[in-house]
Amino acid sequence: MNRLVLLAASIATAAHAQTVLVKPYVQPGDGPALTGKDVKVLTWVTDQKPGNFTVEFGWAGEKNKTATPARTSLDFLKYVPKPKPEAAKPKTDAPGTPTTTPATPAIPSAPATPKAQPAKSADTTPQKPAAVEAKPADASASTLKIPADLATPRPTFADVALTLDDLRDKVVETFKPIPEREQHYFRYRAVLPELPFDTEVSYRVRLGATVIREGTFKTRASAGKPIRFIAVGDLGSNRPEQFTNAYQMSLQKPDFLVALGDITYPGGRALQYMNHFWPCYNDVAKPGPKTGAPLMASIPFYPIIGNHDADMQRLPDYSDAYSAFYWFSVPKNGPGPGPWNTPLGKDAALAAAFKNAAGSEYPAASDYSFDYGPAHFLVIDSNSYATKEIDRIAAWMEQDLTSSKQPWKFVCTHQPFFQASKEHYTEQRLRLFEPMFERCGVNVVFAGHVHNYQRSLPLKFTPNPPKRDPRGRVNGDYVLDRTFDGINDTTPEGIIHIVTGAGGAKPYSTPFEKAAEFLKKEHGANYVSFTAKYVADKNSFSVVEITPTTFDLRQITADGKEVDHFRITKP
Ligand SMILES: [Fe+2]
Repeated sequence: MNRLVLLAASIATAAHAQTVLVKPYVQPGDGPALTGKDVKVLTWVTDQKPGNFTVEFGWAGEKNKTATPARTSLDFLKYVPKPKPEAAKPKTDAPGTPTTTPATPAIPSAPATPKAQPAKSADTTPQKPAAVEAKPADASASTLKIPADLATPRPTFADVALTLDDLRDKVVETFKPIPEREQHYFRYRAVLPELPFDTEVSYRVRLGATVIREGTFKTRASAGKPIRFIAVGDLGSNRPEQFTNAYQMSLQKPDFLVALGDITYPGGRALQYMNHFWPCYNDVAKPGPKTGAPLMASIPFYPIIGNHDADMQRLPDYSDAYSAFYWFSVPKNGPGPGPWNTPLGKDAALAAAFKNAAGSEYPAASDYSFDYGPAHFLVIDSNSYATKEIDRIAAWMEQDLTSSKQPWKFVCTHQPFFQASKEHYTEQRLRLFEPMFERCGVNVVFAGHVHNYQRSLPLKFTPNPPKRDPRGRVNGDYVLDRTFDGINDTTPEGIIHIVTGAGGAKPYSTPFEKAAEFLKKEHGANYVSFTAKYVADKNSFSVVEITPTTFDLRQITADGKEVDHFRITKP
């Protein structure tokens, strides 16, 4: 290309003034088992001025290749709260209906000129409104009386299928509203295929002649190789600790990250990703404790769909709902479409637009599995809509776990089913699958949802009776391995359950002794003291290092301190 043509190209680019709202980031792509070659996906988001993007990638000893990005329009209506049908008759929430009150609307309508907008250029970080959060409900409450603030219409957002326990345990969090507006984006996605395992790959994305991002990522490790990953949930809350945590994560130099649900608060909407997520984990000009780190430029995030991602602010009320399905690319080896999927609401046109934009990521991102190094990961959507129907995918789960010959097997889900905080305590549906997980050789279950860190003793559990009680609890018989300490005894008898949901949201900070006292009083024999470690007062994340014969988990707080470390070994 001669200089004249180059000059013309650069003038044309400048004239279009393409705005990159989310810089290219690395995604896992459709790479389930460690067979054949690996794949990764680069995704980025712009305004709706077409841009001439090119993608180059390569690795040592291989000639550079190019990938062609596919472009998808994402168009969302401005959210306007519905007027209450009978303003004269205030009443409590109907499940699934966004809650508004004249005094404190759920999401107020936008001012004429919104003050907070996505980034205006590739180098500008979107504004981050500060989160304002209410205190958790009183841990000493011991009756089913609904707190006064929950007996009236709630000031934040709708929940679904609320039981009395849910209402009592609810931690009400409010967020400074993001001004509402129409949203129009182009999402670009470039598949990088035929990648060798165990390889560092370089990539460069250009808009015209301008490099908008260049970076490197590792392809998946083959079965015999060591890996290091981060497991953490409850991320994009926009609290300062989210940014500090992200920076600490970057210092650990993980190969990948398992995002254990509630990826963006309060409702997983595109608008919220623009304000609460990308500015912390991807579009970060200067990494630091106050600014986060551009983790996603080099570290694939494996998403798990949490209740704040797909069970709170929903279609058709919010046209940009469930946006995790737009942003992530995952293995497509799940059970396929069925009643266990995120429901798309009754507006057929909106549901069709969602499906069209999400493509094969819906419903793939809810249930899938993958191999990485010597480990097999099974991802399960355990939201309220899914757990009602989860028996229907039990055969798929069991088949997935039994067909894997990997030495380590992990289940990753949002809602923990063995945990000892009063928040979400009765969400015990998945306990019914514990015998199956034991039978299939699962070593560790990772979950978020509960905003703290908990490690259980290795446990074996037989539901008795094998059903939930009216409050959602599952009683049963335990065999606890009390000799395992992860230091001297490193061979657990049973599954270790990890709660690591302190990624950014406000910690559920009730001290262990006080929480245990409450649970004993409130739940009687259903509460069994299976907790080995409990860190509730700080935001934190798990760093896991694995070889074919060793598993090490270190829990690191937002201020960089190690608050737990245990080891599992295999012969
Ligand atoms: Fe959650």
